[in-house]
Amino acid sequence: MPHIRTALVTGCAGFIGSHLTERLLASGVRVIGVDSFDDYYDPRLKVANLETALQNPGFELELVDLTDADAVASLASNVQVDAVVHLAGIPGVRRSIEEPARYVRANVLATQHLLDRFSRADAVPLVFAGSSSVYGDDTPAPFAETAPCVGPKSPYAATKRAGELLCRVAHETFAAPITVVRLFTVYGPRQRPDLAIRRFANAMLADEEIVVYGDGSAARDYTHVSDVVAGISHAMREREGFGVVNLGGSSPVTTMEMVGSLGRIVGVTPRVRHVPQPPGEMRQTFADVRLAGDRWAWRPQVGFEDGLADFVLWLRAQGAPKPAPARNAARRLAVRIGQWLRTRNVRAHGRPLRLRGSTA
Ligand SMILES: NC(=O)c1ccc[n+]([C@@H]2O[C@H](COP(=O)([O-])OP(=O)(O)OC[C@H]3O[C@@H](n4cnc5c(N)ncnc54)[C@H](O)[C@@H]3O)[C@@H](O)[C@H]2O)c1
Repeated sequence: MPHIRTALVTGCAGFIGSHLTERLLASGVRVIGVDSFDDYYDPRLKVANLETALQNPGFELELVDLTDADAVASLASNVQVDAVVHLAGIPGVRRSIEEPARYVRANVLATQHLLDRFSRADAVPLVFAGSSSVYGDDTPAPFAETAPCVGPKSPYAATKRAGELLCRVAHETFAAPITVVRLFTVYGPRQRPDLAIRRFANAMLADEEIVVYGDGSAARDYTHVSDVVAGISHAMREREGFGVVNLGGSSPVTTMEMVGSLGRIVGVTPRVRHVPQPPGEMRQTFADVRLAGDRWAWRPQVGFEDGLADFVLWLRAQGAPKPAPARNAARRLAVRIGQWLRTRNVRAHGRPLRLRGSTA
């Protein structure tokens, strides 16, 4: 990848962040990964996400909570990077309705802290993970990046829109090169456990019924994580301007269609129970991806059925024993995270803790 020797990836232990980190390492880019191992879902899954990266000497993990301004300042003074990808945040529409302030801290305050330190003078390209949720239900499909996006349906969507606007202000004020990539329901190996594909697949593999919200006609524009990572890699090379670019499959699938495909791949006839649709969910998402095509010749490469099959293969392999180096790396990391979290609770501010990847 030209010009990028070292990248900062926030949320590196998450679903998308861990894939991006591996992809960058594989192309020879050093990665400084940042994560706080937030407990929105089981942090042990996040430790497992990093097993491969932790064995690479080009990987360095900084345990930092981005909501802590001092910790972000300390991080910025200790690292020199050629690009920043900001994936850290708390995802999920439904939980945001229960805990909106948590989302404001993690998705808005943390984003501003990062912009304060990495998007001022001599700023390097910054990529912000936006979300299709900003389009709400009042944007005509397929969703174009020029839509006003003033009708978010959940606190999550509103915080992601706020993050985008703060990025825009940082660009207007300091001329920082910033690209917002709006991601559309990302799926694939390591998908978050709260997302429907993973919940449904787990239920089918355990021969349990699956719970579908509403009548199952809501549609999502599923996007395979490898396509998202390819799009982010293009965005990291944007060295000037401010841009908003959709990265979506551009082929919406209804919930019941997804259930049918998953059932065929798992080899079961799904037993479905319908419950009322909770607030906050959109009727459909559908990306207009012409801009990503024009700018980066980006097109989604992975068809939905192939991507689902790839996901189910990965999910089935989860019970298998891991090789010893991966197990050991994960064990060491879990111990260090435990120490960091205890220290953080004692002190007023968390201090960054640095761990280097190794081949040992
Ligand atoms: N997965 C999707 O379908 C999807 C769709 C649209 C947008 N996004 C956005 O992409 C990004 C990554 O999503 P994901 O699915 O990989 O989620 P994820 O939860 O798996 O990863 C997010 C990571 O951020 C870390 N994090 C949270 N708060 C932090 C903080 N204060 N300091 C440091 N680290 C923190 C978490 O511990 C986690 O590892 C998020 O910003 C999300 O809003 C995801």
